[in-house]
Amino acid sequence: KAGLWTYDPGFMATAPVESKITYIDGDKGELLHRGYAIDDLADNADYLEVCYALLYGDLPNAEEKDKFYARITSHMAVHDQLRKFFEGFRRDAHPMAIMLGVVGALSAFYHNHLDISDPQHRDDTCVDLIAKAPTLAAMSYKYSIGEPFMYPRKDFSYAENFLYMMFATPGDKDYKPDPVLVKAMDKIFTLHADHEQNASTSSVRLVGSTGANPYACIAAGIAALWGPSHGGANEAVLTMLDEIGSIENVAPFMEKVKTKEAKLMGFGHRVYKNFDPRVKVMKETCDEVLGALGVNDPKLALAMELEKIALNDPYFIERKLYPNVDFYSGIILKAIGIPTSMFTVIFALARTAGWIAHWTEMHSEAFKIGRPRQRYTGETHRAFVKVEDRK
Ligand code: SDX
Repeated sequence: KAGLWTYDPGFMATAPVESKITYIDGDKGELLHRGYAIDDLADNADYLEVCYALLYGDLPNAEEKDKFYARITSHMAVHDQLRKFFEGFRRDAHPMAIMLGVVGALSAFYHNHLDISDPQHRDDTCVDLIAKAPTLAAMSYKYSIGEPFMYPRKDFSYAENFLYMMFATPGDKDYKPDPVLVKAMDKIFTLHADHEQNASTSSVRLVGSTGANPYACIAAGIAALWGPSHGGANEAVLTMLDEIGSIENVAPFMEKVKTKEAKLMGFGHRVYKNFDPRVKVMKETCDEVLGALGVNDPKLALAMELEKIALNDPYFIERKLYPNVDFYSGIILKAIGIPTSMFTVIFALARTAGWIAHWTEMHSEAFKIGRPRQRYTGETHRAFVKVEDRK
């Protein structure tokens, strides 16, 4: 209509994002990071090697690996004044709320590499965020249980340091995390490291496209990940298994799913319509950890029964609903001793590498501010009505 502002979609359209970092084939159930298959990476590389590949395009050689690990380890500690941030939260605050608040405020502490037009500043920020993610995550847990924060150790690996900062106390002079748990933790980090343009990564890119500081961008990713349809699903799977309670209740629960009264958390995916390649590795890790710990978790038996029924039920087969990365991760994390409230925080910790890799990739070439398109379905132009004339 005359006067309505129309625009050329070509200008406003948000073209598909171009990226070299991660490739997903939803039909084939294929996930590649810089061309390497996720199961090859999970079985043969450790998380920091994957971080290096996400950031710089290839796996590090021995010298690059040593330098990168030393750089990460030396940046794991946080500014001591950050403690005050944590003290502002209630003890029973959800750790994701704490992570969101603290990470979003990091630009108030770290000014020395915020010139995002400078590649070195960008690289320093990437390393800083990957390094500090486990420390902040562990601090959000320690704060919630009223125990003192633990400092990272120079002689521990990344996953080892995370478990140390989570579970050691100042009195534990000889505390050393169980190597089985360290390996499982590291694999879980790898399986969550990146996943192309999912909702949280797209949020990081959209916020990043305005030139916002990287800490604010990562906070946007944390906010998006928190939702139960996304990263919050791992916590929701355990809640669902608790509600079902026993194998006898699986069938009635499935009926509730079919009448849309409930969702099968940990199932379904926007892209994977056959299987999520991460699930196979996650399931193997689950068996390894529970076997090594001699844990006989009834939730695992319940989850396997749920999976078996769903995989043979036409309702789920027709809708291409298969287990996703979140279905088994919670069972492993619980076996490691991680409380349910921390599950999504661990997802955020691991995904920080992917988020910041996409952020830095976007900034390493020309880009426009993001502007998702809309299809307007509201009122057409109409005359104003005075309040006394309104019905
Ligand atoms: C992650 O994008 C990523 O890459 C995300 C992620 C990553 O690494 O970043 O992989 C991580 O977020 C994994 C997903 C975790 N979320 C959950 O497990 C929550 C439960 N899943 C659903 O919320 C759902 O499956 C979504 C959100 C994941 C996908 O939703 P879609 O795209 O709307 O699902 P769809 O279009 O394929 O649905 C087809 C049908 C619909 O029913 P009908 O209208 O055809 O009758 O399947 C139904 C849906 O209602 N359906 C489900 C279901 N998921 C879809 N029914 C029951 N339980 C489910 N979980």
